[in-house]
Amino acid sequence: MILNRDNIAHYLEERQAEIGFFDTDAKLQVEEIGDGNLNFVYRVSDASKPEFSLVLKQAPPYIKILGPDYPLTSERLSYEARALKVYNRLISEAVPTLYFFDPDAAVIAMEYLSEYRLLRDDLILGKINPNIPKQIGRFMGVVHSQTYQRNIDETSENHYRNQFANTDMQAITGDYVFTFPFIDHQTNFYTDGLEDSVEILKADTEFLQQAEMLKHIFLRVKRGLTHGDLHTGSVMVDDNSAKVIDSEFAFYGSVGFDIGLFWANYLLSYFSHAENSKIQSGIISAVIAVWENYIEAFRMDTSLKSRTLHVIFHEAVGFTGMEMLRRIIGAAHVSDIERIDDLERKLRIERAILQFGKTIVKRRNSIANVHEMVTLLYT
Ligand SMILES: Nc1ncnc2c1ncn2[C@@H]1O[C@H](COP(=O)(O)OP(=O)(O)OP(=O)(O)O)[C@@H](O)[C@H]1O
Ligand SMILES: [Mg+2]
Repeated sequence: MILNRDNIAHYLEERQAEIGFFDTDAKLQVEEIGDGNLNFVYRVSDASKPEFSLVLKQAPPYIKILGPDYPLTSERLSYEARALKVYNRLISEAVPTLYFFDPDAAVIAMEYLSEYRLLRDDLILGKINPNIPKQIGRFMGVVHSQTYQRNIDETSENHYRNQFANTDMQAITGDYVFTFPFIDHQTNFYTDGLEDSVEILKADTEFLQQAEMLKHIFLRVKRGLTHGDLHTGSVMVDDNSAKVIDSEFAFYGSVGFDIGLFWANYLLSYFSHAENSKIQSGIISAVIAVWENYIEAFRMDTSLKSRTLHVIFHEAVGFTGMEMLRRIIGAAHVSDIERIDDLERKLRIERAILQFGKTIVKRRNSIANVHEMVTLLYT
């Protein structure tokens, strides 16, 4: 059963007892709001009071934009629902409320975030709100520390590690972030003129060794509940608050991967705003604030040693570099960069990103702290 505008009212009617969100006689209005690649996302509203809305997200057993010839497990939505449930329990203010999950149809119903925008779109416009990185830093610190392996009763049946063995989705990320961009792969593409820089990168054995090591850490290390896709398009914001969405890649893993993706996407925005020092310094402050708020939330749990934070930091630096590189030369690019239509300027920016990404991957273990990482942006 694939949801569409015509069958959604009937679908909700059949589950009225369970969901009980709309009045039984309400006339429902359906709008497709999903701009993503993988899933169907609808806003359903009561036509007589549109502020009364919810979101239905469905994972078909294939990649939405490619169609049924490109299968992808619908199980991904179970992981999203499970993660959303954990987030609602640990830090409800940072996520939409989960209303229900239907495992048979792979459908989630959740709170409609009215008036929220994608963080990426705000960053493109140069709107840098200092509260957002604080909140996301705290979100990650709370979730990572509260699900940290040593904090969990290993004998519990509901152990996070078992609940979040999202190996199919993790394998996809592993290939698209750590492997495909650095070999000749059909999904790679990049700006004409970038060939030289890409060839240099692909021939850099020290870099390739680090990339392989980071992939190993990504696939093997098990520390805590990792969102797995926490870029700036997975965060919705209004003027005061940030909400994390789209946790279908959630897995029990290295945790630093979340910090790395989030930092990397802020930094891609940093480079895209070359020549605007005010925006750039706002982004640098944001990157620092993510880490400061992360460690503050993480240290609330005093049983976790600061040595743990050092390890997470160095891994996060490496993941940051990998994410930046793959967004320039791999299969999935970001609109912050793609929208630059002056090709000479775009090339300059992309070369600078490749240089920075490669440097922090190679030097990740000797970069002492977040201040040192951002200093590399202008030295
Ligand atoms: N709870 C919500 N409230 C308001 N809008 C939402 C909500 N959830 C999702 N959206 C909108 O729908 C879009 C797609 O949602 P989401 O990213 O979860 O889908 P997806 O298909 O998994 O995307 P992707 O292909 O990037 O993985 C979001 O970018 C956002 O604009
Ligand atoms: Mg998604």
